[in-house]
Amino acid sequence: MKILVINGVNLNMLGVREPQIYGNKTYKDLCAHIKNYAKEKGVKVSFFQSNHEGDLVTAIQKTYKKFDGIVINPGAYTHTSVALLDAVKAVGVPTVEVHISDVASREDFRQISYIRMASIATVSGKGFDGYNEAIDILMQNSGDK
Ligand code: DQA
Repeated sequence: MKILVINGVNLNMLGVREPQIYGNKTYKDLCAHIKNYAKEKGVKVSFFQSNHEGDLVTAIQKTYKKFDGIVINPGAYTHTSVALLDAVKAVGVPTVEVHISDVASREDFRQISYIRMASIATVSGKGFDGYNEAIDILMQNSGDK
């Protein structure tokens, strides 16, 4: 099984940005964390991070017929981007939405998620482990385990 892990805007700033919310670990640490877990599970993972909405759309489009699943944390684009929603709908690749923080207990403007409308599940507020849970969900969905 091949999964693309997409992180959007400001997630390259992990470890620096609001550590009381997102923790002290970096984006590189996040990728290592996910990579270890995926290896244990026998899943191939690739990573993509961008601060640019169009580049994230292109990354989603490129999963068509190439990946079996997408794990995506669009950052703030979660709450604004119809373009990301449409891209996931276009490729039809099973997608799980992830947030490091518990968005449900945060500001009102974070309560809307466009990407959720095309996602098979959402994992929120579980820190880096949420990405691992998203991999489990994709595996279960594909009937792999
Ligand atoms: C986030 C939550 C978003 O509301 C925020 O804009 C982010 C990160 C999270 O991982 O908790 O950039 O997606």
